[in-house]
Amino acid sequence: MKLVASIALALASLASAVTPGETAALQKFLGDFCTKCHGPDKQKGDIRLDGLTGDVEKEGERWGVVLDQIRDGEMPPKKEKQPDAAQRNAVVTWISMQMGGHAQRRPNQGNLVPHELLFGRPAGAVAPPAPRLWRLSPDAYLGFVSDVQKGRVPGVVQPFTANPERGIKDYAKLAVIDEPSVEVLARNAAAIVEAQCAHEIVDGKVRGKNDARREFVELMDPAATPTRAQLEKAVQLQFRVALARGAEADEVARLLAFYDKCAKAGGGPGAVKTMLSAVLLRADAMFRQELGDPARQQLTPRETAAAISLALGNNREQKISEAAEKGALTTREQVAGHVRRILDDPKFKKPRVLGFFREYFGYPNAPEVFKDKPKDLMHEPQQAVNDTERLILFILEKDRDVLRELLTTPLAFVNVTTKQNKQTRLDEVVRAITPNAQNNKGQSPLETLYGLEEWTAEQPVTLAKDTRLGILMQPSWLIAWSGNFDNDIVRRARFIRERLLGGTVPDLPIGVAAQVPDDRHRTLRDRMQLTRAEACWKCHQRMDDLGLPFENFDHYGRLRSAELVEDAGATAANVDKKGKPLGPVERPAKLDTTGLIAASGDARLDGPVRDPRELVL
Ligand code: HEC
Ligand code: HEC
Repeated sequence: MKLVASIALALASLASAVTPGETAALQKFLGDFCTKCHGPDKQKGDIRLDGLTGDVEKEGERWGVVLDQIRDGEMPPKKEKQPDAAQRNAVVTWISMQMGGHAQRRPNQGNLVPHELLFGRPAGAVAPPAPRLWRLSPDAYLGFVSDVQKGRVPGVVQPFTANPERGIKDYAKLAVIDEPSVEVLARNAAAIVEAQCAHEIVDGKVRGKNDARREFVELMDPAATPTRAQLEKAVQLQFRVALARGAEADEVARLLAFYDKCAKAGGGPGAVKTMLSAVLLRADAMFRQELGDPARQQLTPRETAAAISLALGNNREQKISEAAEKGALTTREQVAGHVRRILDDPKFKKPRVLGFFREYFGYPNAPEVFKDKPKDLMHEPQQAVNDTERLILFILEKDRDVLRELLTTPLAFVNVTTKQNKQTRLDEVVRAITPNAQNNKGQSPLETLYGLEEWTAEQPVTLAKDTRLGILMQPSWLIAWSGNFDNDIVRRARFIRERLLGGTVPDLPIGVAAQVPDDRHRTLRDRMQLTRAEACWKCHQRMDDLGLPFENFDHYGRLRSAELVEDAGATAANVDKKGKPLGPVERPAKLDTTGLIAASGDARLDGPVRDPRELVL
């Protein structure tokens, strides 16, 4: 309970009451920059901002919109006197802290720290981050289960969900574990302990089964009463596997008292199991604590070990955890040494590294975008994802100019998988999908998508000039960021504005019919013209021009030199003898792949681009 109380205290200190000084500072800011248009005389946009006190509980709704407008640089309007980046940031930080830190905890909305503060000047003294608690991510929970019990654990159900919003998914923004999750966690803990204690009784003797732990199986004899020493040993082991540390004397004492209580209620082995599952439900097993050491204003060694393990992988890394326990994780050098060792250790799986690129680029979504299979091409989105993944790993392995390489490399892996050669027992690169003469009649194989006439085992392949460069021109990315029938200019563009240029776009307002006209006689670029209306363009000017160059590809990821649109005349004439329409006839329309980088915050980047290649280069 001590732990829970300390957590509650830490959380309470995050959102504190407003002081009169803060109210005065806020009112001065609003007075300097806002109330001219949002005060007693004028209420532009029907919003009045004088007299706000900073009590977000009472004034929550207004602060929410104010926060968005200031953070995104929308208000004050461009022509007006502007607060500088530091003032803007201070107000945004203050409001979002008052609102429970919510606005700052949405990394899927792109980079919210103003450029000027990020890059404009050297960082001053670094303030320690506010204490926080992170719930384990869904993957880290499965990692926890596998740390605690090797082998299969029947009956374990995922208790947590990933962030369902667009963008970075693996963000444990939910510091709370809600009631349904607690129920699942309790059932899981029982299932895990069942597997740890799996046994059978033959001729009155207890024998462990499968991957059961000997120390626990010893306690499963219904005829025997476990000794204190045995119970203590079991508790210590459970702490070690679940928390990567030993149990303190008071923790052992409390668990043994709990055991005694359960044992009195009946059932020796049952009481042991209940005691063991209590360890698995501890708050420090389910949360990543980053409460820090108040004296030194940094994470404690235990927290550091957990943070580094879970930043790279889904499991606790053993040696860094041991170092933390032994007091050998206190200096920068010691921490750096462990990070380097873990990065070089092929045995410690680091899915979070690739996981980052998956969430950042969003290409793994390709198989989720339903499309009709084209008649003339094998559409294999999962293979496209696999090929992109290989390219990313290849570039990470080289570890030189990673982001630049990812965006501009002319290399690609094409239709590749790895197979073990039965004779040499070595892994070999082979063609992943070979067309089947019957099923794929008339469909060109995957490699033609990349402009190859024939598949080659020499991978990666250098693609022809003026075709594709980098991840944004990989079929997987183009498919993932497209619709069922067409490219998705706006969402591609939004990706570039937010993820690559570090900008923001206000969310699509409710009530706007965000529908591209389904008029197949016109090119998509032409149909998107509707966003040039003033009311739309104030947002869409940050997006559309960045997405238009990708019209160089179709929504299956094919490079194209013309866009096919419906030919009204030919379609009308396309009838059978009885005059029944035979379906649309298409004609190639001239392709325009030009676009514009504007307001990137760096004048060297801004300007028109001819095509997607010029955009990324
Ligand atoms: C020169 C006049 C002017 C100043 C100064 C000004 N605004 Fe505005 N504001 C407007 C106008 C005009 C609108 C309505 C049209 C629009 O949304 O662009 C508006 C709309 C808003 C809205 C509603 C937006 C929405 O989408 O509903 C908010 C919130 C807002 N302003 C906040 C602020 C804040 C905060 C400041 C000071 C940092 C500020 N404004 C300074 C003119 C101004
Ligand atoms: C406050 C900003 C904002 C305004 C104003 C706005 N939009 Fe958008 N619009 C967005 C954002 C953000 C998206 C991307 C949504 C996403 O990521 O799914 C979008 C997407 C779209 C799309 C693409 C939908 C798709 O399925 O690809 C269309 C079409 C669109 N808007 C049309 C309009 C039109 C027409 C107007 C004016 C009447 C308008 N928008 C006004 C922000 C805005």
